Amino acid sequence: MKKLMAANWKMFKLRSEARETATELASLIKGKVPADREVLLIPSLPSTHGVYTALGKGAEGVHVGAQNLYPAEEGAYTGEVSPAMLKDLGVTHALAGHSERRHVLGETDELVRQKTAYGLQQGLIMILCIGEKIEERKAGDVETVLSRQMEIGLKDIPADTPAENIVIAYEPVWAIGTGEVAGPEEIIEAHAFTRKKLQELLPSIANEIRILYGGSVKPTNCSDIIALDNVDGVLVGGASLRAESFSKIVLA
Ligand code: PGA
Repeated sequence: MKKLMAANWKMFKLRSEARETATELASLIKGKVPADREVLLIPSLPSTHGVYTALGKGAEGVHVGAQNLYPAEEGAYTGEVSPAMLKDLGVTHALAGHSERRHVLGETDELVRQKTAYGLQQGLIMILCIGEKIEERKAGDVETVLSRQMEIGLKDIPADTPAENIVIAYEPVWAIGTGEVAGPEEIIEAHAFTRKKLQELLPSIANEIRILYGGSVKPTNCSDIIALDNVDGVLVGGASLRAESFSKIVLA
């Protein structure tokens, strides 16, 4: 199983900045990425195709992803974008249920389920993001929240989905963009629980599904985090915005 080192650029960078960062990153990591790692850049939608071409249309072995999609082929969905439109831009991966979309934009578990199932059906590698808020952790509800998000988010995925096409990103909401990284015990516990839940929900592929950690990953903590049990990569926001910083994470 290859570890996935993913950069989520959120709503940052104009097109020229995104291209520059992608080009610089590609040159910093060229020929150095271990064979058991994959790199994914998830820029804002307007920068997607520019990043894809700057990377040599995937030739540098760096994939390009999308932060969102709408679960329909086409139609009257103002402001939304379909998987086919994303694939047309060079996109191979997409996020579903990032905490900012759940908690800032009000996405429900049910919409996240539709996005995950439809993206997979359309051939995208889907990264389902899960994670508890601080009040849920304090109330002892971490497992209840993760269970619900996985039970609903993974319902109805096509039966023949290959394990490598589904990725789970565990991102405790209180660790995202706060500089407060979850401790090793918290990460180990949440990832072990996530694996157990996957074994219940998708028994034939559960052990091959990658589980990423996200939440204040930095060059200084990445190597410790990816060495933990059941951590199969990272999803990085703030520390992925500069090529030098993200290159250190990719090569950590
Ligand atoms: P962060 O964001 O690395 O800035 O905490 C992670 C994410 O939102 O995926």
